[in-house]
Parts: sequence; structure tokens; C-alpha cells
Amino acid sequence: MFITFEGIDASGKTTQIKLLEKYLLEHNYQVIVVREPGGTKLSEEIRNILLSKENLNMFKECEIFLFSASRAQLVREVIIPKLKEGFIVLSDRFHDSTTAYQGVGRNINLEDVYAIHRIAIDNCIPDLTIFLDITFEESIRRKKNINSSLDRIESMGKEFFEKVREGYLEIQKREPERFKVINGNASPEEIHKKIVQLFNDKLISLRGLR
Ligand code: TYD
Repeated sequence: MFITFEGIDASGKTTQIKLLEKYLLEHNYQVIVVREPGGTKLSEEIRNILLSKENLNMFKECEIFLFSASRAQLVREVIIPKLKEGFIVLSDRFHDSTTAYQGVGRNINLEDVYAIHRIAIDNCIPDLTIFLDITFEESIRRKKNINSSLDRIESMGKEFFEKVREGYLEIQKREPERFKVINGNASPEEIHKKIVQLFNDKLISLRGLR
């Protein structure tokens, strides 16, 4: 099974991925966690270019290809081989980030975005996507607490992140079976329970298909 996690910055993805990984390992599944952009040597190099504040002059067209290039490598080098070996793959962000951030956030035509996805990920569409939904204000509040410096994309303002969030909610309307929205303001334990429930429901439905 291929499960991806989405959300605006500081939505709690990393915590939830760790909790799900622990749960799955305890239930004797083989698990691998990857992150985007990154996850392979080449993709991590692309990540540095993408997030560096030296590249403030990057055009959105360049940006979408770099995110997708990083993904194209990760899919072929890690995700598909691991799925074939029977692993559950958990990814911190995947193609929905590009739809929401570059497509809706930066106004790149969505039909073009989907065409790029087709090249980058081919048929490697997640079985389940968890979107942890928090508002821009909550994201800012959490980031202030973490007190880390913001990368190139995190430095974008309120209007951008509100569009990104809308972009995610649009994906839910188009693909409600795959894309599940969870209120990110609930406690980490409550959110984890919901994610485990969604995982088990998906397992049953996938087994039914085989
Ligand atoms: P990262 O430090 O991994 O942030 P987070 O912990 O929030 O996932 O940085 C990734 C940044 O890149 C994040 O701001 C979202 C953005 N991004 C895109 O704009 N498009 C994409 O396709 C992906 C994968 C990420």
C-alpha cells in the first residue's frame, strides 16, 4: 500500500507519519518512509535548489519541473521497487503538493499540472492520502513556537497558503475515495486513531478487490 501525507506547513504530518510507522511495524508490516522533495541522493540535491533562499528568482515553471523531477526519480528508484517487495510506503508529501502549491497556489493551469504528473508518477497513484487540515493562522502560530527559519516556500504569505489549502480541498472533491481530510487541530492521539481507522478501511477495500 502506498500512503501519502499532505498539509500546509506545520500541519503535523511528520508526527503522524512517525506514529503510523510505529503502529505498522508493531503489526509486522514492512514499512519505508520517504519525504518530498527528496528521498534519493539526486532528489535531495534538487531539494536543496528548491528550498534555498538564494533562488528567490525561480520562475514557477522551473519550480514545477524541479518538484516533478525529484518525484520522477523517487518513484522509480525507491517507491515502485519497495511496493513490489511488499513494503508499505509512507510519503511525506507527493503529487497533491504540486497540484495545491504550484497548480492552485501559483496559478499553473491544472490540466498542464496533471499532464506533468502523468510523466512524473505514471500509474503510481497513492492508495490513500491523508490531508491534515489546519488554517494559515494555526500554521503561523505553530511555526513561531518551533522558531526555525523559514525556507523559500514557507516564506510565502497568507494569500498563497489560503489558496494552497483551497487547492487541497478541491482535490478532496474530485477524489473523495483516495483523499481524506482530517482536522489537524485535534490531539495527535485522536488524529492517529483516525488514520489507523482509514488505513484498516483501505486494507479491507483493497483486499476485496483482489
Ligand atoms: P519541507 O521542509 O519538506 O516542508 P514540510 O515539512 O512542510 O513538508 O519543504 C517542502 C516545501 O516545499 C513545503 O513548503 C511545500 C513545498 N512543496 C511544493 O511547493 N510543491 C511540491 O510538489 C512539494 C513536494 C513541496
